[in-house]
Amino acid sequence: MSRISDLQERFQVFAGRPGRVAFAPGRINLIGEHIDYSAGFVLPASLALGTWTVAAPRDDRNVRVLSEGQNETEMFPLDVTPKAASRRWSDYVAGVTWALQQAGCKLRGADLLIASDVPMGSGLSSSAALEVSVAYALLTISNASLSPLEIARAGQRAENEFVGARCGIMDQFAATHGQPGRAIMLDCADYSWQSAPLPATHRWVVANSLVKHAVADGEYNVRRAESEELIDYVRRRIPQRARLSELSGAEANELMSGLPATLARRLRHIVSENRRVHEAFAALTSGDVVLLGQLLFASHESLRRDYEVSCRELDVLVEIASGVPGVLGTRMMGGGFGGCTLTLVEEPHVENLREQLRLHYVQSTGKEPDTYICEFGGAGGVLA
Ligand code: GLA
Repeated sequence: MSRISDLQERFQVFAGRPGRVAFAPGRINLIGEHIDYSAGFVLPASLALGTWTVAAPRDDRNVRVLSEGQNETEMFPLDVTPKAASRRWSDYVAGVTWALQQAGCKLRGADLLIASDVPMGSGLSSSAALEVSVAYALLTISNASLSPLEIARAGQRAENEFVGARCGIMDQFAATHGQPGRAIMLDCADYSWQSAPLPATHRWVVANSLVKHAVADGEYNVRRAESEELIDYVRRRIPQRARLSELSGAEANELMSGLPATLARRLRHIVSENRRVHEAFAALTSGDVVLLGQLLFASHESLRRDYEVSCRELDVLVEIASGVPGVLGTRMMGGGFGGCTLTLVEEPHVENLREQLRLHYVQSTGKEPDTYICEFGGAGGVLA
């Protein structure tokens, strides 16, 4: 039985009537970490893994939602507001319901069933996959529509204003604009983007540290506040530079000398990471996987040392992968403080890499990491 008919059958059991099926993918981010919310550039690619939402309209103005992953059902009214946030998984669903209506959509009450194969809190963007698949499902059963960019922004708004995580646009954008086998270089200042093919001869391996990161938790929002402080500071000092990503190396050095040490390091990451995104895009376009790998190593170092969003377990995974033959580059990926690493490896060395990660990570931490060889997919949408 296909995945879709299997989901439809389970929905029939849950809701007693047939439903429409929407999907949105998780993502990896090749490079460009923690700079989407300072109007920087990012380079994500959407995965075949993702989240499905099956939906049918209700006659009343409630939303009833079954999460198969949580094995729980919750219900909330359509006119829900951020005041009702409960710090539970259902906030993401309620937040999207709220944000779509804020964007002017007239929604119907709904029964929803959610199933996902993106591990939660792993750095593969489980939240955005959930938000975007719920958005497509609610819109289709309400005969409403928004553009992919508007859907991405509604997902981000749900997370920022309802869930309380001040994430950028990268994950939701990847879930609504992904292209099979290609990475997207997105300019987060104006949402313009271009794509380049992923190397056919190499594989991307994700290793989950099994340390759960919760974006809603403090440190992520602290980084965002620090970057806002930097944006203000730069605007005051060099008004013609509207964006941190436009600073030259010399300008950044000069500005850093006037900043407290922590903020100076944050700025160095933002400026150097933006430069690396452009270099990585050029490397992808010209097929220079060696350079791409070097940029991954440099990104990790910058995230660890300057932006301070890594953790011991992520550093251990990076260190192990760095010593494995065939590995071109590796780094922590996503929000950090846990979650996963991303490693670029020559195809014949993939299994050895997974084995070495398992063996040495168990020795260092007592935990067995999940590893996943990326399969890429396209954008989210309504499937049936
Ligand atoms: C999380 C957020 C994104 C981005 C990354 C870090 O995934 O949702 O917006 O900030 O962290 O690059």
